[in-house]
Amino acid sequence: MDFSIKTFDAKNTLDSAKAGCIAVGVYENMKLTQAAQALDHKGVISAALKSGDISGKPGSTLLLRALDGVSAARVLLVGLGSDETVSDKNFTQAAQAIARAFTTLGASDALIAMPLAAIKDRDVGWAIRCVTLAVRENAYRCDSQKSKKEATQGGIKKIAFALGTGAAAAARQSLAQSLALSNGIDLTKDLGNLPPNVCTPTYLANTAKKLAKDYKFGIELLDRKQLQALKMGSFLSVTNGSEEAPKFIVLKHMGGNAKDAPTVLVGKGITFDSGGISLKAGLHMDEMKYDMCGAASVLGTFRAIGEMNLKLNVIGVIPACENMPSGRATKPGDIVTSMSGLTIEVLNTDAEGRLVLCDALTYVERFKPAAVVDIATLTGACITALGHHNSGLFTRHDAAHDALADALLAAGRDSGDTAWRMPIEDSYQEQLKSNFADIANIGGPAAGSITAACFLERFTRKYTWAHLDIAGTAWKSGAAKGATGRPVALLTAFLLQRAAG
Ligand code: BES
Ligand code: MN
Ligand code: ZN
Repeated sequence: MDFSIKTFDAKNTLDSAKAGCIAVGVYENMKLTQAAQALDHKGVISAALKSGDISGKPGSTLLLRALDGVSAARVLLVGLGSDETVSDKNFTQAAQAIARAFTTLGASDALIAMPLAAIKDRDVGWAIRCVTLAVRENAYRCDSQKSKKEATQGGIKKIAFALGTGAAAAARQSLAQSLALSNGIDLTKDLGNLPPNVCTPTYLANTAKKLAKDYKFGIELLDRKQLQALKMGSFLSVTNGSEEAPKFIVLKHMGGNAKDAPTVLVGKGITFDSGGISLKAGLHMDEMKYDMCGAASVLGTFRAIGEMNLKLNVIGVIPACENMPSGRATKPGDIVTSMSGLTIEVLNTDAEGRLVLCDALTYVERFKPAAVVDIATLTGACITALGHHNSGLFTRHDAAHDALADALLAAGRDSGDTAWRMPIEDSYQEQLKSNFADIANIGGPAAGSITAACFLERFTRKYTWAHLDIAGTAWKSGAAKGATGRPVALLTAFLLQRAAG
């Protein structure tokens, strides 16, 4: 897939553009966008709207061929709704409709002449990202493990955004960033979708190595011995039952001033979560290969910011291992000592995410971070609370943390990769009391996603911290089973915002 920006002006007009297809917007109530008017020499587009062949509702489409006075072979009409200051929701639906239509066209190149500058409260860069992400999402295939690759159907391979000359330079930068983001999202999807016998902790470490080489990141890979020396007793207790070697991955993108405190991302990297001795039920257990999607989102975000050459110091940390039963596995009732010194009674070995994260969260204190965000497929309870629409966002409730939460929520809204804030309070912390250790690793059936966040909170008191529970957003189940690439778009938007100051 090849993307570019093409400029048009009074001399170089849209109707003379050579392309297999031009996508233009139309509104309900039979109104045309400027670009649609420019192609409507014989009134065919107006007639299509008048006759009801296309409603103009957001996401409706109609393909016309061989219009008089139009050099392009096809014109794709795309509905934008009734409002000429198009809502971001309506534009997103239009972008998705374009992406779908493009996969089945007989043409190979297309021009997008949509009203990129007419979206309410958004700029051209936002619109370019919206279309680019929609097209790349539609084109994504996961067939690395199939012996016969899915035949790539016809469809558009080259896409150019049509813009006035004034807007071109900024648009080119937005496009480059959108492509970097798409590449990051694709990496996150690929890692998530890989089977757990391929995507092991070692595989994640090798992926990090490759990224470090490609984008000149600093990298450290800690093995079991080094983790023992660091006294990561909580993390190591999760890996006890597994034959796969645990890996602790540290990636450093120091794009900012050397003295600037880094932003740290910590991703849960359980490459398979069987539940351990607290074994999960069999149905859908295969989906626990996705329990490393937090880690995959950190690697995908690094892919994106590396390609963008982001001017910010960012450190990524991934505790990676399997959670398996065996004669050596941690048992319910075992008490382990975390790197922080806090002792933990493991009442349920299936609450393992917090056990690997707490040691990673202690480890990152050494970076004196400006902020730490952990990303984890942490609790089924988060799916009960928020479904598959929003990731759960948790922070303490003070001024510094409210500001961090607001920045993450805004990045989510900006990128369409949304989160919803949940509470952390002392009353929930009480559910984690243990009779025998400093803290228990589960807080009972009530408010499961909140007590999980409260557990992590105990280990993050030396810096500003936020937790994203992506259990409901990282992958889709059922017929469309597959990783979504979330929350790479949120994280990248968040980091771009921080780099801008
Ligand atoms: N990885 C799971 C959370 C999960 C489950 C995400 C299903 C997405 C779908 C996590 O390690 C886990 O098993 N959590 C337990 C916690 C419980 C034992 C307190 C859960 O959610 O059931
Ligand atoms: Mn689990
Ligand atoms: Zn898990």
